[in-house]
Amino acid sequence: MTTLGIETSCDETAIGIIEDDRVLANIVSSQIAHTKFGGVVPEIAARNHIRVIVPLMRSALEVAGVELDAIGLISVTRGPGLIGALLVGVSFAKSLAISLGRPFIGVNHLEGHIYGLHLGDEPPKHPYLVLLVSGGHTDFVLVREPFAYQTLGRTLDDACGEAFDKVAKLMGLPYPGGPYIEQRAAQGRIGRLQFPIPRPDGLSFSYAGLKTAVLYYTRDHPDYTIEDVAANFQEAALEHLVQVAERALEATGVKCLGLAGGVSVNRRLREKFTALAARTGVRLHVSPPEFCTDNAAMIARAGAARFARFGPSDLSIDVVAREKLDELQRSN
Ligand SMILES: Nc1ncnc2c1ncn2[C@@H]1O[C@H](COP(=O)(O)OP(=O)(O)OP(=O)(O)O)[C@@H](O)[C@H]1O
Ligand SMILES: [Mg+2]
Repeated sequence: MTTLGIETSCDETAIGIIEDDRVLANIVSSQIAHTKFGGVVPEIAARNHIRVIVPLMRSALEVAGVELDAIGLISVTRGPGLIGALLVGVSFAKSLAISLGRPFIGVNHLEGHIYGLHLGDEPPKHPYLVLLVSGGHTDFVLVREPFAYQTLGRTLDDACGEAFDKVAKLMGLPYPGGPYIEQRAAQGRIGRLQFPIPRPDGLSFSYAGLKTAVLYYTRDHPDYTIEDVAANFQEAALEHLVQVAERALEATGVKCLGLAGGVSVNRRLREKFTALAARTGVRLHVSPPEFCTDNAAMIARAGAARFARFGPSDLSIDVVAREKLDELQRSN
């Protein structure tokens, strides 16, 4: 079946078209209007979605080489995210479903990120652990079986991607800062200065202390080099993920680990987790970068999986600002 996915939960408007596990089109329009504000402005995000969503869908159909009539299922992110932004995608998806006479399904954005792992050549096998590391989340999730999620740990304060963005901002780098930190870090020297690796209890994460350490360092050393600060912040931030992951693998005995969300694009993160997997005899799954940051192929894939198991969503469903994976209904 051909599924059309729609994603508008934050500042990316995205349309994806898949046929079973095969991605036919995955188009993302990132909004640059927020850059000068150093963060996402909700109303600007919603207005941009409504402007670009129709042309974006037309481009996706063209790339996929399919007619609108050939779409068998419409899948859309219904939350968590910015309400105004979500309303654009969900209203558009419902209208499209009614006009085409096709089923409609609303998907949780985080479940979408996890299904990004099912777009690669070899999807993870249950039970598996996912480190969902993005702009809004740093969660360790156990996926015991399809649609059964248990969050084993989450961040106590900032998300990892959020910390990358804030550290970038305080050094005057553009938003979102993650890719810029990675780029600058590649020219810096690890060990030239030192930031503390966060050490909260159990399987929790914390980035507030590390972020403050960078803030104080840059304030007290006005002649700092961005490259060295970036390299050593990145190293501490990522080492924290590795240390918690090692504990999670030990505690659960699970032998399959996936990385999902925007930060999993980071090459140093992939390197460190490849080494962890080799050390612990664990199978590591990471998707190509275009399926890690916000995209709609992952929303199409999650929607298709849910539809196959539970059927369509009701056309009266609402959007949600927050929704934990553990609370997701195992039905639609
Ligand atoms: N190469 C990179 N290195 C580090 N961080 C990165 C990199 N590329 C992207 N990021 C970070 O990933 C985040 C965006 O990821 P994503 O689009 O999955 O998050 P989101 O949708 O904003 O949040 P959520 O999915 O939790 O709602 C940003 O914080 C960005 O800085
Ligand atoms: Mg996301």
